[in-house]
Amino acid sequence: MNTPAASTVSVRVWDAPTRLFHWALTLLIALQYATGEYHLLAMRWHYWFGYATLALILFRALWGFAGSQASRFADFVRGPGTVVRYVIMQFSTNPQRSIGHNPLGGWSVMTLLLCVAAQAVSGLFASDEIDNEGPLVAQVSSKTMKWMTWLHDWNQNLLLALIVLHVIAVLLYLVRRHENLIVPMISGRKELADARPLRFVSSWRALALLALSGIAVAALLWLGR
Ligand code: HEM
Ligand code: HEM
Repeated sequence: MNTPAASTVSVRVWDAPTRLFHWALTLLIALQYATGEYHLLAMRWHYWFGYATLALILFRALWGFAGSQASRFADFVRGPGTVVRYVIMQFSTNPQRSIGHNPLGGWSVMTLLLCVAAQAVSGLFASDEIDNEGPLVAQVSSKTMKWMTWLHDWNQNLLLALIVLHVIAVLLYLVRRHENLIVPMISGRKELADARPLRFVSSWRALALLALSGIAVAALLWLGR
């Protein structure tokens, strides 16, 4: 069992843009399934939520290079050796807590982001050939459209499986290791034995990158209209 040491300190880990990104993405993906699979709202909402998802993913990609320390890819994407050592360490009596994403979690984050990106991009070119089609269908051949539709249908199952795994992993940390990762994704702070301060960048930079991402998605749709 890994209970925090008696002398833990509250360390700021996740900046507001990363936390807002996470919960906005969670909400949008839920809405995508609600509209795409269960037709809870008209399909035009599926497209609008999809554009917002695309902009968010683009923002997160930029934030991975220009964001605060714990949100940068360079901070949490580790080589196979580090991942293997991390996994082995989990079986020790006192496994260390990571400040940001742990080496295994880093790869699960990248897989989730790529899977969401593939889902959103394929949607732009998907069509049920009846009354629902993505905004860029006219730009590609019928063969590409069919392939993208297949990808959109197939990848949604993979994405669902990854989300279930993601939530199970977070709950396992909570139940088995008594490490609550959910509260830090809300408050931004973690209780750690080590108080090494992290570097944070201004939220204005995040706002500018989000605006840039929104403009890029709007420009893509305008060019493909
Ligand atoms: C549609 C559903 C979800 C998706 C696509 C998703 C995706 C992600 C992504 C991409 C990250 C990395 C955050 C970043 O660095 O930008 C992340 C982290 C995290 N997510 Fe989710 N998430 C989902 C639902 C949830 C739910 C329901 C919970 C709560 C149980 C949750 C808890 C967390 C936690 C605690 C982290 C931080 C993990 C760590 O400390 O390394 N997620 N998630
Ligand atoms: C991450 C974001 C997305 C998720 C999770 C998602 C999910 C889904 C789901 C579950 C379906 C139903 C598939 C089925 O009936 O088997 C669907 C259908 C569809 N989606 Fe999405 N979607 C996303 C993004 C988009 C985007 C950005 C667009 C276009 C703007 C789009 C366009 C479509 C279209 C045209 C259909 C009907 C064609 C088909 O059945 O494949 N989707 N989507």
